[in-house]
Amino acid sequence: MANDTYTAVDDYLNGLLIPPDRVLSEALADVAKAGMPAISVAPNQGRLLELLARMTGARRVLEIGTLGGYSTIWLCRGLSPGAEVVTLEAEERHAAVARVNLARAGFADMVEVRVGLARDTLPALHEEAGGPFDLIFIDADKVGYPDYLAWSIRLSRPGTVIVADNVVRKGAVTDPESLDPDVVGVRRMLDLMGSEPGMVATAIQTVGQKGHDGLAIAIVGKTD
Ligand code: SAH
Ligand code: DHB
Ligand code: MG
Repeated sequence: MANDTYTAVDDYLNGLLIPPDRVLSEALADVAKAGMPAISVAPNQGRLLELLARMTGARRVLEIGTLGGYSTIWLCRGLSPGAEVVTLEAEERHAAVARVNLARAGFADMVEVRVGLARDTLPALHEEAGGPFDLIFIDADKVGYPDYLAWSIRLSRPGTVIVADNVVRKGAVTDPESLDPDVVGVRRMLDLMGSEPGMVATAIQTVGQKGHDGLAIAIVGKTD
């Protein structure tokens, strides 16, 4: 369980900075009601996604791992009218909950929820020549992370911001001997982030409501 002090600080900060919000509470309630796991981003992480969407002036956003659309709503809140979000989800059941939540939030027209394994839907997106994404949030299965980063780079332009959730896993990522496939996936992705030419990246540990984990944030550089 999350450390009590960290959770109390989250509650204090969120109480000041993030007003209670019916649409977001209902989205989380629907996720719970559908028996889906409580792994949506925390409110202060969602707000960070909103801020990044605004700071980058993003017009096209890609999310890998939708669940109930909670993080998607936060991303949409940072966007201007006319912006587009594509969010990729393996489970039709999750996508259905997300579509309801996004419609209730007023973002049905802004978001396309695509169902399928990301290893299939990412190459399909690349084929479509829809133009590069400005902001990409990676938050699906951790085993796929190296692949998702590689596809994200292909779907980017210099300046695209890539965010990856869950890169610390209670510190388990520090173990080079780990046989946990999630840890191996995250470690490989971080290796790629550190060695990709032109990429500038950082990773920050997070504590609080979601326990000890972390977020990586990177910007894509010129590759030629
Ligand atoms: N971003 C969401 C949480 C995503 S949880 C939020 O913060 O609100 C991870 C999601 O990724 C789950 O819904 C899971 O079904 C989906 N997922 C897992 N493996 C996947 C894959 N191979 N391709 C696409 N989605 C996948
Ligand atoms: C898990 C996945 C997530 O996206 C997350 O934020 C937390 C946990 C998981 O699969 O354990
Ligand atoms: Mg996550």
